[in-house]
Amino acid sequence: MAREKIFVTREHIIPEAIAYLAEHHDVEVWKERSAPPRDLLIKKASECAGMLTEITDVIDKELLDQTSTLRVVANRAVGMDNIDILEATSHGVMVANTPGVLHESCADFTFGLMLSLARNITYGDRQIRAGAWKVFDQIPYLGTDVYEATLGIIGMGLIGTAVARRAKAFNMKIVYYSRTRKPELEESLGLEWRPEMDSIFREADYVSLHMPLTADTEYVVGPRELGLMKPTSFLINTTRGRTVDPKALYEAVSGGGIAGAALDVTDPEPIGIDDPLLTLPNVLISPHIASASSATVRKMGQMAAANILAALEGQTMPSCVNPEAANQR
Ligand code: DGY
Repeated sequence: MAREKIFVTREHIIPEAIAYLAEHHDVEVWKERSAPPRDLLIKKASECAGMLTEITDVIDKELLDQTSTLRVVANRAVGMDNIDILEATSHGVMVANTPGVLHESCADFTFGLMLSLARNITYGDRQIRAGAWKVFDQIPYLGTDVYEATLGIIGMGLIGTAVARRAKAFNMKIVYYSRTRKPELEESLGLEWRPEMDSIFREADYVSLHMPLTADTEYVVGPRELGLMKPTSFLINTTRGRTVDPKALYEAVSGGGIAGAALDVTDPEPIGIDDPLLTLPNVLISPHIASASSATVRKMGQMAAANILAALEGQTMPSCVNPEAANQR
């Protein structure tokens, strides 16, 4: 196989995957911890056959219009909202993601957020560090139980399913909304399907978002949806920040409309230090790390590299979302 040019947009995250790619191709790597500047990304797209990208690298029409060399973009992520897939397809560029290797880590983290939020674990830690623990008094830290509560899952893909499996062990009632109904999961995990998303907001004690960010799900959780939730309920978001209207969320939490929120993803990202959400003790925010266990990040890198190698060899890719792109060349 001829050696081709590959651009990898971060060096430090996946050194093993980069080394593996470099055995087969000429790999150039952006060495900073932050994303490569836009003009450089466009320049590299115009020179390379493949790119291994992170979710902050925007692959859009402007970039795609300026390349005739690019054949594959492999995102080191399951989410692909940074890539215009329709444009990529019409430009004959195959797009790949990394499903199947990160859902268990993301589900662990979702449960971590839910437990931390409901039982004031992070809040308690924050209070201790602020010097506020002076006497044995549990009352300021009274939490809400997770076991036997109702969990509402929106989006029943691999991550939603892995969350549901954990919830079953906590004896939770699980209701879900998903574009496709999953009768076999209803059977095996005792899930209850709801034909409308609104029912999830109304019924659940914990609403956990697991749908991808698309034009249909952008700000799908707004004042109306938050208004359907119970004042005792919590929102957990590990998908993309832009699925939730941040102003509406602030209003809902600060006004007591809901009990709190745990966000691994924010809008914008990173969240500004002066963001009003950070003033709320019952909002827990982490820096978009649900998939970030060492083992899972390594697997994601390897899968992204394997996607590039397969695409350039004309073989079946581990996960291509637009195989029809190959016919556009
Ligand atoms: C994903 O895989 O989409 C995560 O959000 C980024 O690691």
